[in-house]
Amino acid sequence: MELPFAESWKIKMVEPIRKSTREERVQWMKEAYYNVFQLRSDQVYIDLITDSGTGAMSDHQWAAMMMGDESYAGASSFFNLKETITRLTGFEYVIPTHQGRAAENVLFSYLVHEGDIVPGNSHFDTTKGHIEGRKAIALDCTVDEAKNTQLELPFKGNVDCAKLEKALIEYADRIPFIIVTITNNTAGGQPVSMDNLRQVRELANKYHKPVIFDSARFAENAYFIKTREEGYANKTIKEITKEMFDLADGMTMSAKKDGVVNMGGFIATRLQDWYDGAKGYCVQFEGYLTYGGMNGRDMNALAVGLDENTEFDMLHTRIHQVEYLAKKLDEYGIPYQRPAGGHALFVDASKILTHVPKEEFPAQTLTVELYLEAGIRGCEIGYILADRDPVTRENRFGGLDLLRLAIPRRVYTDNHMNVIAAALKNVFDRRESITRGVGIVWEAPLMRHFTVKLERL
Ligand code: F0G
Repeated sequence: MELPFAESWKIKMVEPIRKSTREERVQWMKEAYYNVFQLRSDQVYIDLITDSGTGAMSDHQWAAMMMGDESYAGASSFFNLKETITRLTGFEYVIPTHQGRAAENVLFSYLVHEGDIVPGNSHFDTTKGHIEGRKAIALDCTVDEAKNTQLELPFKGNVDCAKLEKALIEYADRIPFIIVTITNNTAGGQPVSMDNLRQVRELANKYHKPVIFDSARFAENAYFIKTREEGYANKTIKEITKEMFDLADGMTMSAKKDGVVNMGGFIATRLQDWYDGAKGYCVQFEGYLTYGGMNGRDMNALAVGLDENTEFDMLHTRIHQVEYLAKKLDEYGIPYQRPAGGHALFVDASKILTHVPKEEFPAQTLTVELYLEAGIRGCEIGYILADRDPVTRENRFGGLDLLRLAIPRRVYTDNHMNVIAAALKNVFDRRESITRGVGIVWEAPLMRHFTVKLERL
């Protein structure tokens, strides 16, 4: 008999979680104005709001923390981190920052100027924010297939090279660099193929542009290349990682994802002029160059985390769990962005709450319903997150309206996945009876989804 699959780790420390009653949740949700960001974490049973900074560190990471060197300048922890990053990516220059958006802030302060255009594949919100905040434009060149949630393609995170080349011709000198997000979070945690990365590199060379990878989930991307792309089955994750980064000039990293630490980030590059240009901003915004925004102990834990999370068994365990949840949803007929993404499932609310008009935010309504059902906190990646059009001030209903269930690394068991799937099924089964959604009571002019106040209609 073939042995079944099991996790590549065992559990040494646990954190109790608590169930609540429906009455409690109804009250808490009301007090939170139907915005899950306003809930307290102890009001949540299973927390899927993000996979960022919510992972469980290994015993080796905790041990490394004890050896952290908190020297202001030249700490050994910095060199541990730098040497690990250089070994994995080939990038010589490393600047630590307190998280991913800080890496963007430091590097873009040097690279992005008013009137610039930065093409890429579904820039993450903060990436877009750091571009638009400098009065430049983030131009989305993702493949159109990403918009059809039911299409089953291996690399739905890819850059559409025809769109990219058109931009490179049209905007020429206004483009400071191309940015590729691996995996593509906004498109559903969908990977980018090595072939696509290579094509982007060829275009970049042809038009003399540098390439940055937004690398928050680069290891998951490498896993998908190994398991889905021809010619990579026998390569190790570390070999694939190196081959990916050979195609870029630099990276920004939110270490809270594939670094498996609770806080941290960095910039890494092979270009000395980027390093020289960015380092002054690091000192100004983050801290001195050998700690940036991080403690010595956190840099040590990150060095270990990066090494561990570029091993196949670790990634296999993780992606297997996301796929396990996806299979349950398949069993129940619940539609999500196909195929299952690396870090999350993105449930297609517009295909479930068909009676809730878009003006009443179906994905947010589904998020609220799932919380009320079982205390499970997902996150709307939909019309509320999309904000209003800056010119017309109309809601932007053009994109997808999804409920993201992000799975923290090494935190929940498959039994928790069963609970999530069953709770969602219960909501799904009564979907016909949900005819009204939520309305906005108060909203911020930008990034409204963190603070929006809603009422139940
Ligand atoms: N890039 C990507 C692709 C991200 O997903 C994130 C964060 C960032 C950059 C910014 O990194 O949070 O460390 O400053 N994504 C989190 C999420 C918040 O929930 O998807 P950060």
